Amino acid sequence: MGDTPDSHLARPAPEPIPDPGLEPHEPRPTDVDEKAEKRAERQVASLFGLSMVFAVLFCVCYFALKVGNHPTTWLGMGASNVALGVCFGLALLCIGIGAIQWARKLMGDQEIVEYRHTAASSEEDRVEAVSSLMKGVAESGIARRPLIRNSLLGATAMLGLPAIVLLRDLGPLPGNDLSTTVWKKGIRVVQDVDGAPIKPEDMVVGQLVNGEPALFFENDAEGEPLYEGVRLQQAKAKAAVIIVRMQPDDITPLPDRKNWGVEGILCYSKICTHVGCPISLWEQQTHHLLCPCHQSTFDLANNGKVVFGPAARPLPQLPITVDSEGYLIASEGFQEPVGPSFWERG
Ligand code: FES
Repeated sequence: MGDTPDSHLARPAPEPIPDPGLEPHEPRPTDVDEKAEKRAERQVASLFGLSMVFAVLFCVCYFALKVGNHPTTWLGMGASNVALGVCFGLALLCIGIGAIQWARKLMGDQEIVEYRHTAASSEEDRVEAVSSLMKGVAESGIARRPLIRNSLLGATAMLGLPAIVLLRDLGPLPGNDLSTTVWKKGIRVVQDVDGAPIKPEDMVVGQLVNGEPALFFENDAEGEPLYEGVRLQQAKAKAAVIIVRMQPDDITPLPDRKNWGVEGILCYSKICTHVGCPISLWEQQTHHLLCPCHQSTFDLANNGKVVFGPAARPLPQLPITVDSEGYLIASEGFQEPVGPSFWERG
């Protein structure tokens, strides 16, 4: 005969699975042998001590291994990166292994059972939790084992040392570096790709050219480039300009900027005053220059004024004129720092 839909209601409730109880506690060697306990204690302290050694090695490698243009290399890799990573990793690993050994061999390992209870603890449970916590602290032996406690404190304190040493990478304060560029009176404005000088008649109305100071393409008396490597990149990052040509009648210069251009040709910093993206999205009809990063828009016919977007300052303008050979040159340097804000900008 099959079950009716309600037949299960008449069945007796199933018996709960009997509680198997706890296995009898097996003491560890370190629980019963004082020598084994002392040995484990020394092992743990040695691991914490080793961590301190790796933290110091980190600092030694940081100063000893060269970085930059001619770095020290090991097997074709940057030795500084490898050494710093390995030393810091091993310092952390030794603390981790020491802590695990401490817990496995020396802290209390009594099996316990905790039955489920309602989420909110009663006052008695809380008191009991605090007392269990204190018991755990006592069983960890942190008060009784000054060797472990002090070596752990030493190892974790030493981990702060690499972090402090790395602050050196913030480098020296920039001083005047952010406020100035290499532009000054008489420097030719040249095309950024090939260093070709520019005559006003080379540009048509509506055109935009990316420019740089001619210095970046010149050599000194010994035939060495005036700017190269990191120095060139740093100078270039601030000195990049754009040159645009408009109808002279469209330009509305400030009273003190009336002679800052040549036949409708004006020169501006290429570095956005918001957070420093290079800009050259030029809209000929409106004379607007759009920054692709956050859409700040500058009116180049109106002194680089911000007409849209998050930039807070106009685009700095470089006063230009022509030299005796008819090429565009700076008639002065920038009159204000180029690029985004910084603390000392004022
Ligand atoms: S960097 Fe140009 S708008 Fe943000």
